Amino acid sequence: MEAVITLLPGDGIGPDVTAAGKQVLESVAARYGHAFDFKEALIGGAAIDTVGDPLPPATVEACEQGDAVLLGAVGGPKWSDPNATIRPEQGLLKLRAVLGVYANIRPVKIYPELAGTSPLRAEILQGVDMIVIRELTGGIYFGKKTRTESSASDLCEYTTTEVERIVRVAAKLAGERRGKLCSVDKANVLETSRLWRDVTDRLMASEFPDIELETLLVDAAAMHLLSRPSEFDVIVTENMFGDILTDEASMLAGSLGMLPSASLGDGSAGLYEPIHGSAPDIAGMGIANPCATIASAALMLRHSLELEAEADALERAIADAIAGGARTADIVADDETPISTDDMTAEVIRCLN
Ligand code: IPM
Ligand code: MG
Repeated sequence: MEAVITLLPGDGIGPDVTAAGKQVLESVAARYGHAFDFKEALIGGAAIDTVGDPLPPATVEACEQGDAVLLGAVGGPKWSDPNATIRPEQGLLKLRAVLGVYANIRPVKIYPELAGTSPLRAEILQGVDMIVIRELTGGIYFGKKTRTESSASDLCEYTTTEVERIVRVAAKLAGERRGKLCSVDKANVLETSRLWRDVTDRLMASEFPDIELETLLVDAAAMHLLSRPSEFDVIVTENMFGDILTDEASMLAGSLGMLPSASLGDGSAGLYEPIHGSAPDIAGMGIANPCATIASAALMLRHSLELEAEADALERAIADAIAGGARTADIVADDETPISTDDMTAEVIRCLN
């Protein structure tokens, strides 16, 4: 097949990991007889520095015209002046909104060989296989913000429609998996959460009566994620809770550098990005873990390009590279020697078959 993929390297280690993702996609294309055409565009701090806008119109156009977007990361100390009115993160948030990708899919998969890198005991990690569905274009991230000398506010707002469509995505996915959905909210305090819970209960009872629904308050969910992670199948939650819980969940996998994400709307186009940030402390050193981005590329093959076999093969290649002992610095054990971003990428490509 032919596909146009927009690459948005962004800031920090973003360029390192998107280069790795591109290389892997090129090798998937060569191996399986596809033609991927890559178009690179600016986002985040890099875009602020070049054209003064974290999401230039040319970038939006490129993303809208292509079949899928692979993004690295945005942000860094250079642009983090608290008084700045233009920030790299605005570019990413605006892109998610413009593309309408309200469903952020974050699979948390454990590679058995990395159990030792997780701060949790190996027996707790056994059988962990969950997907967190994070609502991505609503909530406190997108509400009105105010600021005076002595006060500030961020509005958190959700509509019934926004809750319904994300819960549907999550429930459908649960139906294809172990049939369990856990909805996370803070209904004992927040009005938006009470709406979330009402809508979820109603929709699940009428449309998905066979899916087992569990409801947890976010503080308890944060604890249960560590005490009984293997019991979760699909978790659905609002934007900010999902942001926080997935960073926490990455510690089950051993490193933030392992977790991919897919952001989808109603069409097939999607935005694919690692869940990690720009890691400015190791930017340009060639040591970043490319696995999260490569795994995001696999999600792209599956969800936007309908290349399921290729997606499976790429996920197997990552697992095989890890099983074969390939380790970047973030997942290395005390007695092992870390390899570079390039070598890790080469190892995944070698395992691709
Ligand atoms: C993420 C990131 C972003 C978010 C930042 C960079 C705006 O933390 O994708 O999880 O909060 O959504
Ligand atoms: Mg985050």
